[in-house]
Amino acid sequence: MDKKVTIIGAGNVGATIAMRLFEKELSDIVLTDVVEGIAEGKALDIKESGKIGGHDVDIKGYTSDYSGSEGSDIVVITAGITRKPGMSRDDLLAKNMEIVEGVVKEVVRFSPNSILIIVSNPLDAMCHLAYEVSGFPRERVIGMAGILDSIRFSTFISEELNVSIENINAIVLGGHGDTMVPLPRYTTVCGVPITQLMEKEKIDRLIQRTRDGGAEIVSLLKTSAFYAPSAATVEMIEAILKDKKKILPCSVFLDGEYGIKGVFLGVPVKLGKGGVEEIIEFELNEEEKEALNRSKEHVKSLIERMKNLRKSRA
Ligand code: NAI
Ligand code: 2OP
Repeated sequence: MDKKVTIIGAGNVGATIAMRLFEKELSDIVLTDVVEGIAEGKALDIKESGKIGGHDVDIKGYTSDYSGSEGSDIVVITAGITRKPGMSRDDLLAKNMEIVEGVVKEVVRFSPNSILIIVSNPLDAMCHLAYEVSGFPRERVIGMAGILDSIRFSTFISEELNVSIENINAIVLGGHGDTMVPLPRYTTVCGVPITQLMEKEKIDRLIQRTRDGGAEIVSLLKTSAFYAPSAATVEMIEAILKDKKKILPCSVFLDGEYGIKGVFLGVPVKLGKGGVEEIIEFELNEEEKEALNRSKEHVKSLIERMKNLRKSRA
């Protein structure tokens, strides 16, 4: 194929992204991991499934070797540790920043023109780190989270109203964590805002479940979610590779949009072959603006913690 996507980290999210990409035949795929054999083994296992669906995509795995990733169009970073029950995403900061920094340096060496999709947590802080370390323009560093939070919100609405998931269009902005900002006014069922379809108490309950959506899965699996996260990541990859100009909530570096400057935060963006081709600005009311600002302050505090950690390690 003439497109190449590299996935760093062949764990639950990375390998499931690889399998979904393979089955969609969107690109050739490279999988890498630090654990000896895991990327090679999973790549081979996926490749051997190709006969069933007639998938002629090339997929290869490597251990701590980026040479095969050379010239990738997109590099997805899923390398890192996951949270265990009782942990927050922020508890992963110290370990994952070390991993993500090392990975990004290698990615830049081999794929200087790639678009980075960051998945590792805490998401918005890891995006910031990847942006700084890579030196890439902001259009080419994009975080996956808003789609996941939005599809979780959609699922809960669909269950509550007993309506097809296809009729639901939910939108969640802000950082990927407790301060995320679900927007009921812009969340619709066949075009009708849910604020006209449900009592406030019910909406608040679904919003809280969305905020706790990651923790709900962690409490069941004892590790973090990967089926919905991989589906969300592949939606971003597909939008970019097919130059779809699809509007999706993603974490991007804001430079004055929504009155916010200098942090990564989830907002609606148009994804196409250039990566982030436009940041879409919804009109927010005072309450929504305040919620987005609280989220920004939280992400800023993580960036500050990260800066201090990097200084103390230097
Ligand atoms: P996992 O533990 O199954 O896989 C992570 C993989 O990364 C492991 O195979 C590990 O060996 C590998 N790895 C560690 N250091 C590496 C390095 N330096 N280079 C290459 N590979 C390395 O974890 P999972 O479930 O795949 O999650 C990965 C990350 O994604 C976690 O930080 C998790 O919190 C995050 N996540 C984020 C989501 C989001 O919405 N943004 C959704 C789901 C997970
Ligand atoms: C989630 O929300 C772990 O951030 C990941 O499931």
